[in-house]
Formats: sequence, structure tokens, C-alpha cells
Amino acid sequence: MKTVLYPGSFDPFTNGHLDLVVRAGLLFDQVIVAIAVNSEKSPMFTMEERREQIECCCRHLPHVRVVMFHGLLIDALERYQAHAVLRGLRAFSDFEYELQMALMNRSLRNTCETIFMMPTQENSFVSSRMVKEVAMLGADFRAYVPPEMVAPIEARIRAFREAKHD
Ligand code: PNS
Repeated sequence: MKTVLYPGSFDPFTNGHLDLVVRAGLLFDQVIVAIAVNSEKSPMFTMEERREQIECCCRHLPHVRVVMFHGLLIDALERYQAHAVLRGLRAFSDFEYELQMALMNRSLRNTCETIFMMPTQENSFVSSRMVKEVAMLGADFRAYVPPEMVAPIEARIRAFREAKHD
């Protein structure tokens, strides 16, 4: 069974992420979406919330499993016996960071291969950061996320706003 590990923050899970998970399912038997702890970011959702949300968005995709990981990606790759890392490449601007990350991972473990896939053009500008930003500023963000994500994002924005007015 060929398994690919798809790591990221997924805060929140977008149509771009879903697009990649579906595409990767055409090449791999199993796609493990691996939610990473990233201490630099102040997340919109907890890891557990993200795990439940992604499971909900992918419940029609039997090849998808969702896990959480702390520490190094190469260790998660081994733990889940995945054959490669999957990352999305949207624009040229993603490339430098992704190249560095792929080469660092391969330097740490020379068997670590990274596969890049491109989302459809209509998802090629969608990022979690921008979805969060436009949603927080009151724009209609529903075209950028799976329908299952709309209510949780709206609820979190309401909670942020209420906390601000307290
Ligand atoms: O969605 P993101 O935030 O771009 O994902 C980045 C992520 C989580 C894939 C990356 O930060 C990561 O792999 N973190 C785990 C720590 C690690 O292994 N670092 C060394 C490789 S750069």
C-alpha cells in the first residue's frame, strides 16, 4: 500500500487542501493529512478542532486519514510508514520555501522524498492565511473553503468579535 503524508497547519482547511487530497488519492492508496504544531502561529482552531473539521470535510474520501504530529516531519513520516511527503505548490512564490523545506528534510533523512502537486487554477490563490484575513474583515469567504468549514469559521469570528467588545 502506497502512502503519502500531507503535512501542514490547515488553519483553516481550505478548498486548496481538499483539492490536493482528492488529487493525491488518484496516485496513492492512502493520504495521511498530518496536522503540525507550529509555535510561530496563533491558530484560529485548536489541533483537535482541526482534526475533527478535516475528518468531516473528507468523510466521503475513504483513502484519507487525519493525524496530528509534534516534532520533526521526518519522524512522522517514519511513524506512519509513509513513502513520501506531499506539498501543494500554488505560485512561484511558494517555491523557495518549499524547496528549502524539501531539501532540509532530505538532508535530515536521505530517503525523504517530497512530491509537489498543483491545485486547480481556481484554488491557486487560496491560502489559509488569506481566508482567515478576509473572513475576519467581513468578506464572503465561502467560495474558498469546503461547506463543512463555513459554520466553524463564522462561529470563531463571532467569538473573536465578542471577546474584543468585552
Ligand atoms: O501549512 P504550513 O504551515 O506551511 O506547514 C509547514 C509544516 C508544518 C509542514 C512545517 O513547518 C513542518 O514540517 N514542521 C515540522 C517540523 C519540521 O520537521 N521542521 C523541519 C523541516 S523544515
